[in-house]
Amino acid sequence: MNILQINSSAKSEGSQSTRLASKLVERLREANPKATLTVRDLSRNPHPVMDEAALQALFTPAAQRTAEHSARVALDDALIAEIQAADVVVLGVPMYNFGVSAQLKNWIDAITRAQVTFRYTANGPEGLLKGKKVYVALTRGGMYRNTPADTQVPYLKTIFTFLGLTDVQFVYAEGLAMGPEAEHKALASADEQIQEAVAA
Ligand SMILES: Cc1cc2nc3c(=O)[nH]c(=O)nc-3n(C[C@H](O)[C@H](O)[C@H](O)COP(=O)(O)O)c2cc1C
Repeated sequence: MNILQINSSAKSEGSQSTRLASKLVERLREANPKATLTVRDLSRNPHPVMDEAALQALFTPAAQRTAEHSARVALDDALIAEIQAADVVVLGVPMYNFGVSAQLKNWIDAITRAQVTFRYTANGPEGLLKGKKVYVALTRGGMYRNTPADTQVPYLKTIFTFLGLTDVQFVYAEGLAMGPEAEHKALASADEQIQEAVAA
């Protein structure tokens, strides 16, 4: 089993979502001692935004790319190779201003590539990242689960399904900014959710 851990907090130290994702990985490795682990930390190694230069590089046929184009495409290729090689993907996902972090959006933009991780057929889109299990550890200062203010879960479900990642489990730690008691309760509940998710 190859586990890929994606840390998408802006923080390289003291991140609550990274801590939760690491806990999930720890439990998975206890249950699967031979599992390998690759960690992609988007705070320590921020992935570049999909800007005009990136689009120009991606949409230039490989044979005609400049060295600069190829270098930019190679950055995305590396992230695609990592997820292709993974059997299990564990993401630490903080809520920032009701959405996902810019770091996570850049990662998603990098791995979403036509003909490689999805394609359109006569029947509509087909995701090409199949047969993987995905765990998402969500951390939030407030409480937004199952409310219209939670844009993260519907967005992640949509993009992951589009890519063929249909087996996605969410673990919530909410109310982390609502005082020590709420924080303690949220982390204890997240622990239980992790145990259940890994045992399932
Ligand atoms: C810039 C910023 C924006 C935030 N926006 C929200 C928000 O919209 N809703 C919320 O519930 N918490 C919000 N929070 C709180 C974080 O979701 C919470 O502290 C989370 O655990 C941070 O995870 P991290 O430590 O892995 O970065 C925000 C925190 C920061 C730093």
